Amino acid sequence: MQHKQSELLFERAMDVLVEGCSSASRGPMNYKPFPPYIREGRGSRVWDVDGNEYIDWQLSFGCLPMGHAHPKIVEVIQQEVAGGTHFATALEVEVETAELMVSMLPHVDKVRFANTGTEACMTGVRMARGITGKRKILKFEGHYHGWYDGLLVSSNPQYVTSLGHPNDPVRIPDSSGLTPGSWEDTLVCVWNDVEALERVLRAHGHEIACVVMEGVMSNMGVIPPKPGYLKAVESLCREFEVLFYLDETVTGFRVAPGGVAELYGLKPDIVTYGKALGQGFPIAAIGGPDHIMESIEYGKVLHYGSHNAPRLGLFATKTMLEEMSLDNYAGYKKISEIGDQITKRLNQAAADAGQNMRVQNIGSMFHPVFTDLDEITNYRDFCQTVNLAKYADFSQKMRDQGIFFSGNKILHNLSCTEHNQADIDTSIEAAGNALEQMSRDERV
Ligand SMILES: Cc1ncc(COP(=O)(O)O)c(C=O)c1O
Repeated sequence: MQHKQSELLFERAMDVLVEGCSSASRGPMNYKPFPPYIREGRGSRVWDVDGNEYIDWQLSFGCLPMGHAHPKIVEVIQQEVAGGTHFATALEVEVETAELMVSMLPHVDKVRFANTGTEACMTGVRMARGITGKRKILKFEGHYHGWYDGLLVSSNPQYVTSLGHPNDPVRIPDSSGLTPGSWEDTLVCVWNDVEALERVLRAHGHEIACVVMEGVMSNMGVIPPKPGYLKAVESLCREFEVLFYLDETVTGFRVAPGGVAELYGLKPDIVTYGKALGQGFPIAAIGGPDHIMESIEYGKVLHYGSHNAPRLGLFATKTMLEEMSLDNYAGYKKISEIGDQITKRLNQAAADAGQNMRVQNIGSMFHPVFTDLDEITNYRDFCQTVNLAKYADFSQKMRDQGIFFSGNKILHNLSCTEHNQADIDTSIEAAGNALEQMSRDERV
C-alpha cells in the first residue's frame, strides 16, 4: 500500500492546519507518521487519496449506523438540498423527527435538538443545576462527555499512581486553560461500584444536582456495566434526590432502539444523544420527561444555537430512524449481531496467535485491548494493565491490510448495517496475520 498523495497533502496541511487536520485524534498522534487522507466512502468501505480501499470499522466514531453514503440518505439529501439547507425557524421535518424519537424512547416526552454531544451535555448539566438549585455534579473516572470545561475532568487514561484512593479519586483536569472555578463543583467517583457511589451521595447528595454517566464506558474501549449496577445507580439517585443523567451520545440509537435505557430498563431524568442520531450530520439532542424538559422553556435554563435543528441533517436523521426501525427494528439487531460475531472471532484469532488481546463489546460497539486480565471492568484496570502501544501496532497492521480500525487507542470500533459476511471474514483473516506478526516480532 503506498501513501504518496496522503504524504503530500500532509505536508501542505501542516502549513495551514494544526496537526494537519481538525482534531488531535485524527492526526499524527494516532496515525504515524501522517494520517491517510480519506476521499470518499460507500457502504462499509472508504478510499483514501491514493486509491487505497479500507473496510471501515471506525465509522466516524459511531456516527454512521447505516455506513457511508447509504442510498436512502443520498436520495433524501439530493432531493431536499435544493429546498435550502438551514432556516433557523421551526420546521415540519423537526416535528416529524422528534415524534419518531419520542415513539422509540418511552422515558422521553420531549426533545430539544442541538448540534454536538458536547453542546447537549453542557445543556444537560445546566438544566440539572437550574432545576435543583444545586451546584455540584458527579461524574465518573474515565467517562467522557465532550470538551465543556465543567465536564473535562478525569476523562483520560492516566498512570494509576496519579489516581489517588478509589474512595477519594484525585480530580485530574484534562486540559490547560480551565479555570479552577470551572470544575471545582465537579465531583469524581469510580464507576461500576455501587458502594463508592452510595458513599459520595451520603456525604454530598444534598449539594449534587445530577449524577452524569455513560451507560457503557465507551471512551476506554468498551466496558459494560456490571449486572444490576445501572439500576442501582438509578435507585440511589432517587433515594438521595439527585437527578439521574444518562449520556447516550454513543449508545443512543445504537445498542438498541431506545439505547442503554431500553437495554437495562432505566428511566433517566435527563438523557443526551448525538453521534448515531445524525447518520453523519451534526445532530444531537437533549431529552427527558415533561417536568424536566420544561426547564429550558423560554430560556429559563438557557439553550440557544443558530445551527440547532439544521434541515438537511434532520432529513438524514428521520430517514435513518425509519430505515433502522423497519421489520421490528431489524437494523439494530443486525449491527449487534455483526458486533457479536466479530468480537467472538477476534478473541479466537488472539488465542490462536498466542496474543493477550481481549475484545469486549456491547452489540455493535467493540474494542480490542491488550491486557493480561481476562476482563476489564473498570477504568483503573484499564489504566494499569492495558498496553496502548500494542493496540497502536495492531491497528496500524490492520490498516496496512486495508482494514480501518480506529487509530484512537482508547475509543472503540463499530459495525454498521452495510458490513457483510465477507467484510467480517476478510477482517478476521487480517487480524490473524497482524497478531501472528506481532507474536513473531516478540520472539526475535
Ligand atoms: C459519551 C460521550 N458524550 C459526549 C461526547 C461529545 O460528543 P461530540 O464529540 O459530538 O461533541 C462524546 C464524544 O465522544 C461521548 O463519547
